[in-house]
Amino acid sequence: MKVLGIESSCDETAASVVEDGKVILSNVIATQIPFHQEYKGVVPEIASRKHTEWIEPVVKTALKDAGLTMNDIDAVAATNRPGLMGSLLIGLTFGKSLAWANNKPFYAVNHMLGHMYAAHLANDIEYPYIGLLVSGGHTIICKVSDFDQIEVLGTTIDDAVGEAFDKVSKFHGFGYPGGVIIDRLAQNGNPKAANFPMPILRGEDHRYDVSYSGLKTAAINQLDQFWNPEFEKTPENIAAAFQETAVKILLSRLFKAVEDTGLTTVVAGGGVAANSRLRSMLAEHKEINCIFPPLKLCTDNGAMIAGVGYQFLKRGETSPWTTTASARVTEFKRGLARKSSK
Ligand code: KG4
Ligand code: ZN
Repeated sequence: MKVLGIESSCDETAASVVEDGKVILSNVIATQIPFHQEYKGVVPEIASRKHTEWIEPVVKTALKDAGLTMNDIDAVAATNRPGLMGSLLIGLTFGKSLAWANNKPFYAVNHMLGHMYAAHLANDIEYPYIGLLVSGGHTIICKVSDFDQIEVLGTTIDDAVGEAFDKVSKFHGFGYPGGVIIDRLAQNGNPKAANFPMPILRGEDHRYDVSYSGLKTAAINQLDQFWNPEFEKTPENIAAAFQETAVKILLSRLFKAVEDTGLTTVVAGGGVAANSRLRSMLAEHKEINCIFPPLKLCTDNGAMIAGVGYQFLKRGETSPWTTTASARVTEFKRGLARKSSK
């Protein structure tokens, strides 16, 4: 079964054809980064305009690269939430129209289910496991029992981890997008250059929660206070010290979830799952079987959406034609074990 997946929730216009939820036949990602770079962040209106221009050629290229036409496609899936409203509507409406016109089933997919599924495209993974969803908008530690059964154990109480990378990079003038730039700078920096504070989140209620606003403020406004004077304040050292603490914050909570649940498989997803320090620190923990998506599947892509679409197709479910986009999701709230509604 071949599913065409469309992703347009933020600043990538992406489409992919995936067979049986596993084999990637094509994966086209048109990044808008150069158009947002001068503003040092994503400009929603520019994102919508680019999606409008690019959606058709991107989808056509995905079909062409796979050597297929719409006749060969069994279903169409598109991200409908969460994300930028204007951006979401373009991929969703294009996907729905394409499915309707070609008489194929349609699936509206939650972007976060997509990120959680990305590692499954390259690995055989058994449920249940601990999920680590880390992106520009989300930081979620969860128990995953099926592709759409995600019980949130902990989340951020303020900023998402990717957002902290982006803001620190923006403030220090390192560039956009911040995560990958800080990761690269940090390779040549010393993580001991600053002693940034770890958040103090007390109480059982916050056992698996993280916080990034303190670290962000420390790395932006209070650098002198936490800096070790024997180190030079270079971009490399700032990046390395910030990244080290950002990753430690995540892992301190992740390890508690592993210990408490007895689940030793951890599956990561989302843009920050591309971070090299997160990968190397987790690799040191041999007691944990940590599975990361390939780098290209960590950030936004259509293959992960096609993968989730296939899982719904297998169940014989479809999304109604009236399904619309939504900027936020209610499924991923802490402490609520919820089946993600379609
Ligand atoms: O999943 P994604 O492409 O979009 C969202 O759904 O948010 O994630 C983008 C986020 C950005 O905050 C970006 O800075 C971060 O992922 N990111 C990274 C790395 N690559 C991307 N953060 C840390 N290290 C990286 N190598
Ligand atoms: Zn994403």
